Amino acid sequence: MSLQLGDLAPDFTAETTSGTINFHEWLGDSWGILFSHPADFTPVCTTELGTTAKLQGEFEKRNVKVVALSVDPLDSHHEWIKDINETQATEVNFPIIADSDQKVAQLYGMIHPNASDKLTVRSVYVIGPEKKIKLTITYPASTGRNFNELLRVIDSLQLTANYSVATPANWQHGEDVVIAPAIKNEDIPAKFPKGHKEVKPYLRTTPQPNL
Ligand code: BEZ
Repeated sequence: MSLQLGDLAPDFTAETTSGTINFHEWLGDSWGILFSHPADFTPVCTTELGTTAKLQGEFEKRNVKVVALSVDPLDSHHEWIKDINETQATEVNFPIIADSDQKVAQLYGMIHPNASDKLTVRSVYVIGPEKKIKLTITYPASTGRNFNELLRVIDSLQLTANYSVATPANWQHGEDVVIAPAIKNEDIPAKFPKGHKEVKPYLRTTPQPNL
């Protein structure tokens, strides 16, 4: 059975380009993103890892640790990182798991045999500080991920975790958010002092609370 939202993210110990990590220990109190790549020295993956490296500051601002995975060995990862740094004009500054025995890939269901029995698909797991899975997305090998969307989802997840709000369709940082249905009308002024609009009794919005 595949991993589902709310499940405990499976723990593992793995070799990475930053040394051996125990996943839960490495995450500590941070949020985490674990994402898989079909293979080293492939074009789309090269752009994805370069993009992730350039966004490190954005992930750090949000207290998110990022770790990539592919089923190639460590020496291959180290050689590939040189190419990524050169071609993407950046410095890969997060660990890449060398999962040549597919241990982690199998644990997380990153191999979809009807797509490929050898390579992972592009899986993304966002993990909360309590080690629960908050988001899963699966892309095919041929489509590079939208990392701005990952940042947007993390912003939404962190707003929900901290302020009892949800985010509407196509929400972007700075726009109004939706007050969680569990919040009673009489509790709104104290919880949301910036004010609110009641469009319908079940659709109440408020300015983004953490700005
Ligand atoms: C790529 O990263 O470019 C790629 C990897 C596997 C299959 C297709 C594309």
